[in-house]
Amino acid sequence: MKLCLRGDVLTYSGDPWTHPVEEVRHYIEDGLVVMEAGRIMAVGTAAELLPGLESKTPVHDYSGHLLLPGFVDSHVHYPQTEMIGAYGRQLIDWLNTYAFVAEQRFADPDHAAEVARVFLRELWRNGVTTASVFCTVFPQSVDALFTAAAEHNMRIIAGKVCMDRHAPAALCDTAERAYTESRALLERWHGRGRAEYAITPRFAPTSTEAQLEACGTLAREFPDTVIQSHISENVDEVAWAQSLFPEARHYADIYARFGLFRPRAIYGHGIHLAEEELDCLHQSRTALAHCPTSNFFLGSGYLDVNRLKLRDKPVRIGLATDLGAGTSFSMLQTLNEAYKASKLSGSSLPASHAFYLATLGSATALGLEDRVGALAPGREADVAVLDWRSTPLIEYRMRYADDLEEALFVQMTLADDRAIVATYVAGQRVHARDGAVSP
Ligand code: GUN
Ligand code: ZN
Repeated sequence: MKLCLRGDVLTYSGDPWTHPVEEVRHYIEDGLVVMEAGRIMAVGTAAELLPGLESKTPVHDYSGHLLLPGFVDSHVHYPQTEMIGAYGRQLIDWLNTYAFVAEQRFADPDHAAEVARVFLRELWRNGVTTASVFCTVFPQSVDALFTAAAEHNMRIIAGKVCMDRHAPAALCDTAERAYTESRALLERWHGRGRAEYAITPRFAPTSTEAQLEACGTLAREFPDTVIQSHISENVDEVAWAQSLFPEARHYADIYARFGLFRPRAIYGHGIHLAEEELDCLHQSRTALAHCPTSNFFLGSGYLDVNRLKLRDKPVRIGLATDLGAGTSFSMLQTLNEAYKASKLSGSSLPASHAFYLATLGSATALGLEDRVGALAPGREADVAVLDWRSTPLIEYRMRYADDLEEALFVQMTLADDRAIVATYVAGQRVHARDGAVSP
């Protein structure tokens, strides 16, 4: 059974940092997205596509709103949903004081299931349809998230956090358990429906050499899985990581020497990386997740996204909320902060580049660019519907927006969850603002 969405359409077919924007950004005023069996069948103007449809084909009419590929959050911690906005600390103290306390509650599968539901609801309220998610050390916390996502056929990436030192005993596994538990979860979930497994060593300071070795072995045995971790977020963390692995040339080398840099590997932050480390990321086609709200909230610093994208050896970058150090589920608000990070870096972040980063850019960083991140025939039918005029101030400001670039920039500066009218996952509506159901 076909279902069509009508509205303005924005999507990308390539990277605006490496191709002229006009060639890779596609905007259709009064467009139509035709979906069937969870996939996109056609995208075009309503005028050209409507006459060819069977008369009974339902059309959800979002005329005057914007249809976007569902946003892709490339790095987020679902167990930290309950402690967003935890006061006063920088990274290491923040982990010990808040994050590691919250994560211990996920030994309880009922608690995990409840938080997973709240987390997915918030993703969808914000138009996010795919996320790469850190769970906790407890396998049941991974089962809870995959189970909740599978109920709605959502494309989700998730993994059990591996830690065998420098964390509370209740949150520590061992090198061997990291391998066997991750492997069991991977075999249960990876490729089941739209689930994908991520091998997830938390970060170098909380893993022994033996555990990173075990994660690297698993990564070699299952080369189509994601690897996710953190790198170079905070200056004290960088010094600590280097002191724990004195034989490594630098932070990046810690992961690289265990085989944890490869395509489909993605590391949060990367703020303080040296040129040589960026070269390692480039050569191994490893990606970074840009986490601006988190970087500002914890006082970690900021990433110069243009420098990394435009250097001779560019680095793949996705956009990420990094909740609960990040402060908003909204990818629009995350772009707002990404813009400020670029200003502090002496550059800018054009809206056309920003919306790429939040959709196809993140999908590419995760190796999902053939499946999600764009509205095009054959892609999975994940769509966010954005109200161009979601608040009185935005309505007023939009009267003075002269072109698409300015209209999009207004959205990423002023808009938030209130702008998301509806969200579709695999062609099914999973969120409708105000409970509204369109005809
Ligand atoms: N580094 C290691 N663990 C974490 C985490 O949970 N959040 C952030 N922001 N950084 C980390
Ligand atoms: Zn993180």
